[in-house]
Order: sequence, then C-alpha cells, then structure tokens
Amino acid sequence: MFLSEALSINSKGHLEIGGCDAVELAREFGTPLYVMDEGLIRRNCSSFRDSLMKHYGGNGLILYASKAFCAMAMCRIIESEGLGLDVASGGELYTAIKSGFSMERVYFHGNNKTEGEIELAVENNVGRIIIDNREELFKVHRLASGLGRKVRVTFRIKPGIDAHTHDAVKTGMSNSKFGLTLENGEALEVISQAKAMENIIIKGIHCHIGSQLFHIAPYKAAAQTMVDFLDRIRKTLGVELEEINLGGGFGVRYTARHSSIDIDSFIGEICRTVKEECEKRGIKPPALLLEPGRSIVAPAGITLYTVGTVKGGNGFNRYIIVDGGMADNPRYVLYQAPYEALLAHHPQAPAVSEATIAGKSCESGDILIRNIAMPEVKPGDILAVLATGAYNYSMSSNYNRLPRPAVLLVRNGRARVIVKREDYEDIVRNDIIPDDL
Ligand code: LLP
Repeated sequence: MFLSEALSINSKGHLEIGGCDAVELAREFGTPLYVMDEGLIRRNCSSFRDSLMKHYGGNGLILYASKAFCAMAMCRIIESEGLGLDVASGGELYTAIKSGFSMERVYFHGNNKTEGEIELAVENNVGRIIIDNREELFKVHRLASGLGRKVRVTFRIKPGIDAHTHDAVKTGMSNSKFGLTLENGEALEVISQAKAMENIIIKGIHCHIGSQLFHIAPYKAAAQTMVDFLDRIRKTLGVELEEINLGGGFGVRYTARHSSIDIDSFIGEICRTVKEECEKRGIKPPALLLEPGRSIVAPAGITLYTVGTVKGGNGFNRYIIVDGGMADNPRYVLYQAPYEALLAHHPQAPAVSEATIAGKSCESGDILIRNIAMPEVKPGDILAVLATGAYNYSMSSNYNRLPRPAVLLVRNGRARVIVKREDYEDIVRNDIIPDDL
C-alpha cells in the first residue's frame, strides 16, 4: 500500500489526513471533495526556505508558483511562511491582491500578458514583472510610463536545456513558446533595449526548464548557463544584475513507482553550482530565486469521491465509477499522469484485481486511473485519490456543467472550507437570456 506523505491510518483503520478521518470528512462535506493538509504545506514551505538559508545564506527568495493551487487562503499561508508568490495571470494576481499579500513579493509571469493585466500589476506595485518577449517589454514600458511608475523587471530566458520530462511540461528548450532565446542573441538584444528605457529597472534573469523533474543535472546546467549569461550581460552591456531565478519543477512522488527527491540536497547542489560559477568568473553571487509549485502542494492533497457503481469484471474491464473525474482532475486525460487510490474506510484492504477508475463525464476518455490493483469495491464506498494537491483544483472545469468541489484545509483534527462547493446557481450565474429569445 502506498501512502502519500500527508496520510496515516487511524485507530478505526480509516484513512486520516491532518488529524481528520477521511470517511467523516466525506460524510460531513460531501463528495467530490479536495482535502489539503495545512501542516504538510507549511513543512514543505519551510524546507525550501530553510535550505536556501542554509546553503545560500538566505540571499534570495522562494516563490510559491500559485498556478499549482491558488486560493486566497493559500496566499495567506504562503505569506505567513515568508515566501514570495509567482502569479501567471490577472486572476492569480487578483487573488493575491484580495488576500492582502505583500505586493513586493509578487512576481508576475506569463507569455502574453494583456494590457489590463500589466496595468493591474503596475498599479499594485508588484515586485517584478517577468518579461517574456520583446513586444511585452515595449508594452510594459509604455504602460508604466503612462502611469508614471518605474517597474522592476526580470527577463525570461530559454537556456536551451532539455529537461527530459513529459513534452507538455518541458519549457527550457530553444523552441519553447516561453521566453527569449539565448542562442541567437535575442535575449541580449532585448535586455540592451531595456537598458535605454527610463521606466524599466532591470533586476535579473529567469528560466524554468520544466516540471516533474527528478535529476539534478538539468538544474546544474541551467545554473551554469544563467551565471554565464549574467556575466555576458555585465561585460557587453555594463549592467550588473542582482538576481537569477531558476524556476520550479521539483519532482513529486505520486505513486510507489516514483522516486522522491531530497529537496535539501537539490537546493544545496544548485546553490553550490551558482557560487562556483560566480567564483570562476570573479562575480558576486546574485540573489537566488526558486519557484516550486507542485512540490509544495501535490503531496498535501487528496480527493475524496463516492463510488456510484462498479461495472464489468469477469473477463471485461472492471470499472469503478466515481462522482467526479476529468472535470476535477484532468491530468490523466492530458498527460496520462499516474495516481494511486485507496478506500477511505479500509486503505489496507488487499487488492483482488485490476480496475479502471472512471469519472461521470460524457467521454469514454474520462479516466482518473487506468489499470490499478484494487480491492473489492462497492457502491457507496469513499475512494481517495492521492497526491492531488497540485494542478487539480487549479485545472478543474465545469465540463458537463458539473459544479466544482469544495476545498477543505485540515490541520490538527480541524477542517475548514477554503473554497466553497459550487452549486447550480453558480453554474448559471453568467448565463444571459437575450430579450428576443
Ligand atoms: N515557474 C514557472 C515559470 C512555471 O511555468 C512553473 C510551472 C513553475 C514555476 C512551477 O513548476 P512546478 O514546481 O509546479 O513543477 N499543468 C501541469 C504543470 C504545468 C507547469 C507549468 N509551469 C501538470 O499538471 O503537471
């Protein structure tokens, strides 16, 4: 049996998260239900923060990549842990603003920021705008000048590194849609244009090579390339950059087959590489930023479902059909992402045969887990899918007009709703029937 980090088994033999019995949570709050363990989120934040302190004297900042899971309560947790926030859209930025997050620690990403989004960022004095492309630099400068503000920027660079992960989450190669190309001189040219802009303050460079990475080598390669570029900018443009941001991507253990990575040794290696590369070139180590998303929240979450029916068997596929699916977790459909599932009332029940856990949407591809060894399961059982804290709620949809589940935050036996369950009124809220219909 595989238990993700947030989980244990209580005296009743039930699955427990944050000191709460998962069967009781399902009964009290209904299903489907996202449940997040606050204690583990906080421990993950502090392990990143403490490692940066230990290996780099704290010269830098850990930014939580809020695309993994964004809600106002989550922003509050991140704020209280002393981390910064990576936002990648006006909606994520607005969530941070509404939660009262310190704006100087908000870093605004995105490869096609709209004028409205940029204005919102500038008016609220975000810490950095990460410039993705040449047009965006001009747009940010024009809007900032119009508002009479100076903005601090970093530049997203494609370091030309293949991080060997799923194609959909590779981002560091020269043919990626994100950032400025290093190889052909584009990045240097755009930074030199920025140098001449009065309302732009150049702070540093950024890269993010990919997601769900388990090897240190691509991070070291990225650190080398970025320090080398920092030095080139100094020599050719005479601009001393203060910071490099190496993005996120730290791999997470979703199933027993995944290895786990030791965050402290990863950060130690990254810090060592940056320092060595700086020493070789005789430059002062810049502030170092990292942007973990998945590794902060994925293991802290589970999703609880009620089994509606069990079909097949006897030579046919055994289907366990639950009351959610691709609308609350599209990751199998998009990436064939593997997950594990357990029965909440009997997580240790022995497997009897393989089964496919399918959802209730009108698509035969609506699968959560394919061919997983499962015990005897009957209608009404509560099924927990593990390690769903990242990119589940944040990627959920209302397909089939299914209301989104609630998100619960659990800690020391207490459960609080941090995102309320949508109801049918929410589903029709934006519908308009024109007068002539
Ligand atoms: N920084 C930047 C600029 C990013 O684009 C991302 C993720 C991160 C940080 C955080 O990466 P993480 O530590 O979470 O791996 N929807 C996909 C993941 C897309 C990741 C996009 N960027 C999934 O469900 O696997």
